[in-house]
Amino acid sequence: MKDKLIIFDTTLRDGEQSPGASMTRDEKVRIAKALERLRVDVIEAGFPAASPGDFEAVQAVAGAVKDSVVCGLARALDKDIDRAGQALQGAERARIHTFIATSPIHMKMKLQMQPEQVIEYAVRAVKRALQYTDNVEFSPEDAGRSEEDFLCRILEAVIDAGATTLNIPDTVGYSVPAQFGAMIGNLLQRIPNSDKAVFSVHCHNDLGLAVANSLSAVLHGARQVECTINGLGERAGNASLEEVVMAVRTRKDVFPCQTDLDTREIVACSKLVSTITGFPVQPNKAIVGANAFAHESGIHQDGVLKSRETYEIMRAEDVGWSANRMVLGKHSGRNAFKSRLQELGVDFASEEELNDAFFRFKQLADKKHEIYDEDLQALISEAGFDAEDERIKLISLKVCAETGETPKASVTLRIDNEELTSTASGGGVVDASLKAIENLVGSKADLQLYSVNNITSGTDAQGEVTVRLEKGGRIVNGLGADTDIVIASAKAFINAVNKLQKSVPQGSPAQQGDV
Ligand code: KIV
Ligand code: ZN
Repeated sequence: MKDKLIIFDTTLRDGEQSPGASMTRDEKVRIAKALERLRVDVIEAGFPAASPGDFEAVQAVAGAVKDSVVCGLARALDKDIDRAGQALQGAERARIHTFIATSPIHMKMKLQMQPEQVIEYAVRAVKRALQYTDNVEFSPEDAGRSEEDFLCRILEAVIDAGATTLNIPDTVGYSVPAQFGAMIGNLLQRIPNSDKAVFSVHCHNDLGLAVANSLSAVLHGARQVECTINGLGERAGNASLEEVVMAVRTRKDVFPCQTDLDTREIVACSKLVSTITGFPVQPNKAIVGANAFAHESGIHQDGVLKSRETYEIMRAEDVGWSANRMVLGKHSGRNAFKSRLQELGVDFASEEELNDAFFRFKQLADKKHEIYDEDLQALISEAGFDAEDERIKLISLKVCAETGETPKASVTLRIDNEELTSTASGGGVVDASLKAIENLVGSKADLQLYSVNNITSGTDAQGEVTVRLEKGGRIVNGLGADTDIVIASAKAFINAVNKLQKSVPQGSPAQQGDV
């Protein structure tokens, strides 16, 4: 019998700390439902003390998820732990994850605390968390740069206090595989009560080593890996879930453990996270990139045709490629539409909201005969559930492109219930359209990213456009999907401007540094 490797997904918490990746409560619930279908063991849903919005999101995920453990992050402070405990009240199975920094530089410069005090805070935090749940995780933040002797002392103390999972974060992505793995092995050996807790790792990707470090730790005894879909996360991101899971599964000969994940859900989950956050997946990304299973060279193609194993170490269908099923079409009724969306974690707050989404679905089905799950996800994402409160709406768009002529666009928007029209020319019809919109909205934001992806295959596929805008240090991603990419671009730009005008800086306490 192999050991179980616990998969702890932190897409909704650390993943959300990527600039521009903030998600609404409903978006978090949809991703959490997808993670549950993937059979992730633990879902870290957020940081309840960070903001009222984060609290509500954790509460909503706790209410929606039944099979996975739902976890909330808390600094080693009573007020944070109480907020996490309250947010998780409705969860079938709840975990509180508390942390405090242990590296010399963090203790001295950030916390301005003596090491003994840090141990006291950690023990106290674990005991307080136990008042809400017996499933308590502790992380010594910046463990990758902490002294091993100090780690042994603090970890022994928190196990005695009742922590059941000890997570060793490489917060700044400084570790390298042999050294990080050896550190995990040493901790397991040196801490007298280490057999009373599961050892976990949480690696950041600043040197591109997050997955390698996590896997090295697994070889040295770690039995939980913290990771994110598509490797999303603070700065260069976290260890990518799909890479960790598929490495362990593909190299059964090397790893003494296995996960319980349904890997066929990986691609759907990856696409959903990419759609909601507006972070496209690079084509050559392992497992979930569009080219991950595409063979270009003639020699490779010839080999694969003769025997797949000549060049394929995994089967594309095992991670969910080519699993897109045609779920709905133009003859599908409201009930079929509603129940498929419910399965995807989308619940309509009112009949009006359902009617509106169903109307847009019918419009799409007229243009595109086969509607896949990915199309439905995009339809919901680009509308946003709070579409009624959007200040700016696209009413119509007309473009003119002709060889040898300057492209032009004329756009009509409704802004605060007033209809306004502007015309502009540009390098292409997308450029002209965005300029015409900017004439009307005057956002003066800096366009940091414009990208187009096809949601499914075929020339009738919907194009999904991501527009990233920055203004005064605030970054937002706007999304738009349509079978016409010029319209998708206009929708994405308007979506980003609406978000920019609405969004409030997140100010996550994780970066505030008081503890
Ligand atoms: O990277 C980190 O140290 C974290 C902790 C809160 C676990 O995200
Ligand atoms: Zn982290």
